[in-house]
Amino acid sequence: MATILAIESSCDETSAAIVLNGTDMRSNVVASQIKSHMRFGGVVPEIASRHHVEQITQVIDLAMTEGDATWDDVDAVAVTQGPGLVGSLLIGITAAKTLAFAHQKPLIGVNHMAGHIYANQLVAPMDYPLLALVVSGGHTELVLMRGDNDFETIGDTRDDAVGEAYDKIGRVIGVPYPGGKIIDQMAHEGEDVYNYPRAMKGEDTLDFSFSGLKSAVINHMHNAKQKNEALDMNNVAASFQAAALDQLVGRTMRALELHPEIKHVLVAGGVAANKGLRTQLTAAIEAFDQEITLQFPPLSLCGDNAAMIGAAAESLYAQADFAPLGLDAKPGLSL
Ligand code: KG4
Ligand code: ZN
Repeated sequence: MATILAIESSCDETSAAIVLNGTDMRSNVVASQIKSHMRFGGVVPEIASRHHVEQITQVIDLAMTEGDATWDDVDAVAVTQGPGLVGSLLIGITAAKTLAFAHQKPLIGVNHMAGHIYANQLVAPMDYPLLALVVSGGHTELVLMRGDNDFETIGDTRDDAVGEAYDKIGRVIGVPYPGGKIIDQMAHEGEDVYNYPRAMKGEDTLDFSFSGLKSAVINHMHNAKQKNEALDMNNVAASFQAAALDQLVGRTMRALELHPEIKHVLVAGGVAANKGLRTQLTAAIEAFDQEITLQFPPLSLCGDNAAMIGAAAESLYAQADFAPLGLDAKPGLSL
């Protein structure tokens, strides 16, 4: 049982939080840089690092104040070690090491993807064994957990992450970065009339692939333009989303068939905010087995934030799994 100051700076949000016992979020300050990256159509690593440097001290101070915590209360400092942009990760890690050294507190290195999964622990206790569908801008994975910090990746993307595909399609449709949320809204205004290809159809696999779908949408739009044919962008969005969700829901259901011992499913990462995914996965699981529980984090905890890092740090704290002050960023860290 610990009071943890958590720091997250792996991509384009600078965040700090106070989390008690891995479950009780006392504060969660998130400074987003999205506006600075929007005009470039994606995250510019150099700009991201500079923003983190400018923001990190205020964000940490605010998290301490809003969380009503003093350094006497804090038992450990947790920080995202990877995966992420190396320059961005290093800002959070340097801040965490400095504070841990100055206040003589243990340091905990946390995997960002574990953080996304543990965001669910801020809602309800984790019930093992469980299956986590991790869907973000950088990852698309099915992860089996048999206990705390015990991760087995049973399905993974062979190319792009689903959030990355959403953002690329957003760019060709002409919506601001990151396109996921707007494509989701457009999809609800349109219909799946274009029937884009379903990846790896007929193959019994838990893996994902989104690059073929992305190319199919881009080629379709390109050909229509050449022929001066007007496409309804809401229908493009709906058709893309239908093909993407078919994969996410289909693979999750196949994993549940292969692992009948699993009665709990969690969704994690930025794409967990997707309305279509929430509706379709809920319906598929209800139809499959009413004993299986399904949980999505609240929208505010789907994207990158430090509270999820504080939640994931609790079991590492309990095992005294502390990091040395020489802790380094691991941009390619996996679960
Ligand atoms: O987890 P996250 O905040 O950052 C990473 O760790 O990657 O995920 C960001 C991703 C972006 O690709 C964004 O477009 C996507 O999540 N996203 C969505 C929705 N909201 C955010 N994708 C589909 N539907 C949404 N509603
Ligand atoms: Zn993330």
